[in-house]
Amino acid sequence: MSSVRGVAIVGTGSAVPERVLTNDDLAKMVDTNDEWIRTRTGICERRIADANTATSDLCVLAAKRAIADAGISPGELDLIIVATVTPDMMFPATACLVQDRIGATKAGAFDLSAGCSGFLYGLATGSQFIAAGLYEKVLVIGAETLSKITDWEDRSTCVLFGDGAGAVVLQSAPAGAGVLSVHLGAAGSGGDLLTLPAGGSRRPTTAETVAKREHYIHMSGNEVFKFAVKVMGEASLKALEKCNKTKEDIDFLIPHQANIRIIEAAVKRLNLSPDKVYINLDRYGNTSAASVPVALDEAVKAGKVKKGDVVLLVAFGAGLTWGASVIEWSKG
Ligand code: ACO
Repeated sequence: MSSVRGVAIVGTGSAVPERVLTNDDLAKMVDTNDEWIRTRTGICERRIADANTATSDLCVLAAKRAIADAGISPGELDLIIVATVTPDMMFPATACLVQDRIGATKAGAFDLSAGCSGFLYGLATGSQFIAAGLYEKVLVIGAETLSKITDWEDRSTCVLFGDGAGAVVLQSAPAGAGVLSVHLGAAGSGGDLLTLPAGGSRRPTTAETVAKREHYIHMSGNEVFKFAVKVMGEASLKALEKCNKTKEDIDFLIPHQANIRIIEAAVKRLNLSPDKVYINLDRYGNTSAASVPVALDEAVKAGKVKKGDVVLLVAFGAGLTWGASVIEWSKG
């Protein structure tokens, strides 16, 4: 991104539902226990949306906070990208629902699907519109209500996920600052390791697909785990290489919050001390596309990310996909 206009994150915001579901609560629903969940995943509790809350509702809250933080008005936005695997419905796009509700009247809007890497894909896409000189201000949201597609009878998945939304406002900046590099990847050959099998054009929803619980998340946890450990380190190093940085340059890491053991493996590979890593997995579980932007917003608001810091964002997810980005934090 060095030869074109720079792109900076000028505002962040996030939102999570109020309802807390603890590991002990889950132990009353399926055959599991707090000790297993904590030691295998690092998760203690997660937030769950109520029956009346959809992904767009969390998006709107996060978006309004990010827009206020950026000190702009919704009418200034040129584009809205919502990364999600839990849109309100197949169509219209959740981004269009958000565009209407926040009053971003001149903005284009579309959704993007890249699983838990969705926010990194959205950041890359939004940044390019600005770098190319097409747009000035872009809102990128990562948001999920995974609780709506979770099989609450499947202990191997239901303990992992939670709901939330995180948003950033991107704006043009001097070249050489802000988003320094982005690295995206995919391995579609591993797509069947993490799917929602029914409800699309391959297997439209029928009484049979519902009876077979194919409208819920299906995951080969072990295989995804191995893939994640490998790709989190590799993607991080690629993103660093693309902007001529090394792991020694990293001031702060915001990893996808899926499993503490996956994060620890990445931290080890990057030789980072634990105080340079943001973790909220214990409180929220895996919120998929919302995970990185929620963590980023919290880290910034807690004063852990400071102006001039080199921040590394990295995620992996369904697809299979991965993404990493190096950002020189430019907001004071
Ligand atoms: N409570 C108690 N026991 C359980 C539970 C549970 N909730 N879940 C599984 N077990 C049991 C299994 O049945 C198994 O028992 P067995 O040995 O008698 O068969 C045992 O625990 C071990 O199961 P594993 O699956 O081998 O456990 P593992 O250590 O691999 O941990 C986990 C499972 C946590 C799912 C891990 O594999 C993981 O985190 N994988 C990555 C998941 C992930 O990050 N997904 C990303 C989603 S991205 C997106 O786009 C939505």
